[in-house]
Amino acid sequence: MAAAAVAREIVVDRDEPRKPSQFARSRVAATTRSPQLPYLMNVAGSSYRTIWPSVDGLAVEIIDQTRLPHAFITARLATLDDAAHAIRAMLVRGAPLIGATAAWGLWLALRADASDAALAHAHTTLLATRPTAVNLRWALDRVRARLAPIPSVSRAAAAHQLAIAICDEDVALNRGIAAAGLPLIQAIASRKEVGERVNILTHCNAGWLATVDVGTATAPIYAAHDAGIPVHVWVDETRPRNQGASLTAWELLNHGVPHTVIADNAGGHLMQRGQVDLVIVGTDRTTATGDVCNKIGTYLKALAAHDNGVPFYAAVPSPSIDWSLRDGLREIPIEERSACEITHLAGRLADGSVATIALTPDGSPAANPAFDVTPARLVTGLISERGVCSASASGLRSLFPDHAGL
Ligand code: MRU
Repeated sequence: MAAAAVAREIVVDRDEPRKPSQFARSRVAATTRSPQLPYLMNVAGSSYRTIWPSVDGLAVEIIDQTRLPHAFITARLATLDDAAHAIRAMLVRGAPLIGATAAWGLWLALRADASDAALAHAHTTLLATRPTAVNLRWALDRVRARLAPIPSVSRAAAAHQLAIAICDEDVALNRGIAAAGLPLIQAIASRKEVGERVNILTHCNAGWLATVDVGTATAPIYAAHDAGIPVHVWVDETRPRNQGASLTAWELLNHGVPHTVIADNAGGHLMQRGQVDLVIVGTDRTTATGDVCNKIGTYLKALAAHDNGVPFYAAVPSPSIDWSLRDGLREIPIEERSACEITHLAGRLADGSVATIALTPDGSPAANPAFDVTPARLVTGLISERGVCSASASGLRSLFPDHAGL
C-alpha cells in the first residue's frame, strides 16, 4: 500500500478564531508569490498555493484537501508513493493540480533513482492514479520527454525545474482565463440595475484548490468580485464528495465572495425562476471538438441551462484539451470511484470531531461514476487562456492554430 503523506500542520477548528501566524508556518516560499499580482488567493489573510517545494528542499508540500473545510492541514510528499497516494486518495484533486502533483512526483522518484527504468516506473505509477483528467498525462509526458534524452545524473534537477515551470504556467493560464472570462460577467452586470448582483452557478470545485492557484471556473468570478462587480455564486454541493460544499464554499468564504450552497438538484429550479445569469464550470478533459468532461452532474446543469436560455460556459486551460479526441462520450474514460463515497458521508459533529456516517441501508449496492460528458452543442462557449471561443473544432482551432494539425 502506498505510504500516506505525512501531515505536518496545525488543525484549526472552524469555531476557533484563525490565527494568521499559525497558517504562516506553511506559507508559500517568497519565490512563488508576487504580491502585486491580482487575484491572490488567501486563507485567513495569508496567500497560498496548493502545492510548493518544502523549505528544506527535500519534499513538496500540499494542502490536504480531504480535511477541508473543517481543518486546514498541510502534508509533506517525500516519495513517488506519497505523490501517487495524494492523487489517488484526493488529498490533491482538480485536473490542473493533479498534473502539477504528478510533475513533482516524477521529481521525487528521480531523486531516489534517475535510471531509465525508474523514470518509466514513475510515469506508469502516476498515470494509473486517476484516469479522467488529461492534465495528468499531459504533465507526465511533458516531463518524461524532457528527461529521457538527458544523462541520468542531470534528470532530478531538470525535473525540479520543470515542475516549478508547470506550476507557474498553471497560474499564468488561470490569470488568462480570468481576463478572458471577466467581460462575460461585465456584460451581464451592465444590463442590470446598479448594485444588482450577477448570479453565477458553478459545479464541483474548479477554484484555486483545483489548480496551483487562482482556479479556472472561479477565476473570472474572483476577477469580477475584485473589480467591484456584485457577484453571487450558487455553489452546487456536488455529491458524492461534496467538493462544492466543502471546497468551493470555503474558497469563496475566505475570499469574501457572496455565495450560497445549494443541493445539486436545485439548479434547474433556480434557472426556471431567472435566478441564474450564467453557469461556469471547469473541465477534466475537453475534446478537440468541444465536448466537455467534468464532475458528475455537470451534464444535467447544461441541460437545464439550455432549456432555460442560461449561458453555459466551461473554463478550459489548454492542458485540459485532449487534441487526440473528437467524441467525448465514446472516447473519454470515466473514473468509477468507490461505492463508499455514495453510501457514506463525512462531516463535523456537534462536538467538533469529524466522523463518517452511513447513509444507505446495509446491503444496497451503489455505483459511482465520477464524471460525465456535456456534448459541445449544450456549451455556449469555452473560456481559455487565449480568449473565449465556441465549443467546436473550428472555435478551438481559431484560438489554438498551433494544434490545428493534431
Ligand atoms: O474529482 P475531482 O475533485 O478531481 O474533480 C474535479 C473537477 O471535476 C473539476 O471541475 C475539474 O477538475 C476542473 S478543475 C479546474
